[in-house]
Amino acid sequence: MLERFKMAPPDPILGLTEAFLKDSNPEKINLGVGVYKDNSNKTPIFNTVKKAEKILLEKEQTKSYLPISGSPEFCEQVQNLVLGKDNPCVLDKRVATVQTVGGTSALRVFADLIKTNIGSKKIWISNPTWENHAKIFQLAGFEIETYPYYNAETHDLDWDKMLSTLEAIPEGDIVLLHGCCHNPTGIDLNEEQWNTVANVIKTRGILPLIDFAYQGLGDGLEEDAKGVRIIVNNVPEVFICSSFSKNFGLYNERCGALIGVCGTSETCQKVLSQMKVVIRTNYSNPPAHGAYIVHTILNSEELRKEWEKEVQEMCTRIKSMRKLFVEKLKEKGVTQDFSFIEKQKGMFSFSGLTKDQVLRLREEFSIYIVNSGRINVAGITTNNIDRLTDAISKVL
Ligand code: LMR
Repeated sequence: MLERFKMAPPDPILGLTEAFLKDSNPEKINLGVGVYKDNSNKTPIFNTVKKAEKILLEKEQTKSYLPISGSPEFCEQVQNLVLGKDNPCVLDKRVATVQTVGGTSALRVFADLIKTNIGSKKIWISNPTWENHAKIFQLAGFEIETYPYYNAETHDLDWDKMLSTLEAIPEGDIVLLHGCCHNPTGIDLNEEQWNTVANVIKTRGILPLIDFAYQGLGDGLEEDAKGVRIIVNNVPEVFICSSFSKNFGLYNERCGALIGVCGTSETCQKVLSQMKVVIRTNYSNPPAHGAYIVHTILNSEELRKEWEKEVQEMCTRIKSMRKLFVEKLKEKGVTQDFSFIEKQKGMFSFSGLTKDQVLRLREEFSIYIVNSGRINVAGITTNNIDRLTDAISKVL
């Protein structure tokens, strides 16, 4: 039977890392996967994570199972971080939060939860979006539709078309939004646009799912949560997938959460019970270490302050690399306008490079960029910027 299997293509993002690792060029550059690098091209463990691990090593008494929904203390901290601790839905106990295996499994748990409980089958994702979104929902049995998001001519949001498509989404469908630092474009909605989207979602009876994997990497932890909070404060039922891969650097700990904001605390209990059914039948219960780290940091005033500074430093470095990238391209004689890169937010930039140009960069210069032209700006350093911009100037 197994001989009938067909070879699957490599993953468009993680497959690039595999190819990068095999490349023997000592000057190779990986701007593919969304992993933060410091200026020495390392993905360091946060100081606060190291400190929390030390505390845990001494304090931890058991490796017994966590509850199906994960660490309750972690879930409470996550709600506060994402929604704000004084948010009425938190105070009214209308929020069901479960710990998940990174942000990806939060998406899958959501998909299974909806499919088994309300039978909704259609999800609207932005065009473009993270490469994995469509696949996750397809495998879970959803139909995928797209709404316009990016205007390739202006390198900006295709707001009018996005809005008119959202306004025509049938009641009961799901719309997937990016909470901040849109992946792959780096283009976010402003406050007014978030309010408009909230209004459309509410009026049309659409269920919003917000993928929120980059809190803190755009403009700051609180600033980046504005859009999510506008939706939550205006729409009665909202789901949010949170990830701590980037803002705690906990990539390989697979630490995330699914947050469901409900109309009443009674509904919330039912939703939570069904989230647990999905988790129990998928992976039983989540791993503890990442969640314990997050909780230890957020629970200590001192560690939390230090962590906020660490996140801010990443954010500042990314912004400075955006600026340098644009300046260096000019310096190398590139006349094409790349100034839009400075306006984009978070780790990624939709560079406008074509697939052919991306492939040339890979083959001729060992520079790895996702085929869509998405660049991980957090992988640019003052050491690789000249080689990178030189190469780009040659393929344009
Ligand atoms: C990315 O988009 O590069 C990250 O979210 C990592 C991943 O899992 O794809």
